[in-house]
Amino acid sequence: MTITVIGAGYVGLVTASVFAELGNKVFCVDIDEVKIANLKKGIVPFYEPSLGEYISRNINEKRLFFTNSYGQSVPKSQIVFICVGTPPKENGEANLTYLFSAVEEAAKNLKGYTLITIKSTIPIGFEDDLEALVKKYAKTKYEFASSPEFLREGTAISDSLHPDRIIIGTNSKKAEKMLLELHAPLPGERIICDMRSAQLIKYASNSFLAAKISFANALATICERTGADVTKVVQGVGADKRIGHSYLYPGVGYGGSCLPKDVLAFIAQTRNFDYDFELLRAVDAINNGQVASLVNKVRQSLNLTEKQGKNLAGVEIAVLGLAFKPNTDDMRDAPSIKIINSFQDLGAKVTAYDPKANEAAKKILPDIKYSDDLYEAISNKDLMVIVTEWPEFAEIDLEKAKKLLKKPVIVDGRNIFDAKKVRALGFSYTGVGR
Ligand code: UDX
Repeated sequence: MTITVIGAGYVGLVTASVFAELGNKVFCVDIDEVKIANLKKGIVPFYEPSLGEYISRNINEKRLFFTNSYGQSVPKSQIVFICVGTPPKENGEANLTYLFSAVEEAAKNLKGYTLITIKSTIPIGFEDDLEALVKKYAKTKYEFASSPEFLREGTAISDSLHPDRIIIGTNSKKAEKMLLELHAPLPGERIICDMRSAQLIKYASNSFLAAKISFANALATICERTGADVTKVVQGVGADKRIGHSYLYPGVGYGGSCLPKDVLAFIAQTRNFDYDFELLRAVDAINNGQVASLVNKVRQSLNLTEKQGKNLAGVEIAVLGLAFKPNTDDMRDAPSIKIINSFQDLGAKVTAYDPKANEAAKKILPDIKYSDDLYEAISNKDLMVIVTEWPEFAEIDLEKAKKLLKKPVIVDGRNIFDAKKVRALGFSYTGVGR
């Protein structure tokens, strides 16, 4: 099949690369000229393991093409995937400007029957507005479908090649057949439904994952108050197959471009349908509480009382990890931002180290120090705080770290260390929920 993918962000680039890898001819369109010029040379605008190799290989095999021109790609395509971002506006609502302009440009360039498939996460019910827009411009027969994407950053290619399920939201038998054929080489359960249900599946999945994480974070707080060990508690809870182990790890709270945004959007949208999603409001509140909890732990581990603790003036903190999770340089809604802002508000001086996200972080957190070396970052600091669980942090030479730090204090926001071992080495150690 010949396909156009509109939007060269995470979802767009991974979708384009995977469909090209499966043998289709794929055009990836974006309005950003610099981005497209770089992609033609195989330069990916963000860090994502193995994506660069997939892109280069498929460019060389002449299955993947990058262009700024809708006219060069859309008329030749049987399916057009809309993969542009719908970032939140100041008021939390989704900004649909890119979505509407991408759909309008696609509509103007349709030639012959084309299936327009939405992968972007769009508010429930907006498919009607998109259809109205296409109707205004299209001079040919077209149909609509929604096929949400569930890839995770850091494992995007492998998630897309091994999906648990493929959602095909459409009322058209022809569209259903085309999408089934396109996805035929991929594993996973096929779920055929209407477009609105497809959109709801996306919001519900991300919200449920967020709820599991907040549940684990609430358990961690209870464990801190009762003296239980949350790592054992979630191990025991997750061993029940009905619950499962994944997304049950407490920490500094969930971040990234999807979970926080989709939880808030789901709350806002269900309110429009006269439903107060109290459960999700609690999920969001627990998540926000994780930042304050970590800051408190820093205070307590330096023996600063609550009264003095309003003030971390003069305290030098090494923050290890900035990205919202390992294996990405993505800083969108990263918990590190709120944590570092709190440290700064309390007067602390922060030096940060992240194996991949230092550069991206500099734009958001311009007035902290950055280090390109883990040991240099912790040198002469009052304590080190783990914010992202990069594997190299768990491998740190703790004897060396103890000598470099001013005080042997670790606040571990991701439970990467064995508490007993670290304490046996003479550290003051505070994890999450144990
Ligand atoms: C998520 C969804 O998983 C994916 O299906 C969707 O398409 C996009 O949103 P992603 O944003 O890449 O993917 O991140 P994910 O790996 O799900 O992690 C989200 C956040 O939750 C991270 O900040 C992570 O640190 C945190 N998390 C995850 C926990 O705190 N505990 C856990 O047990 C799991």
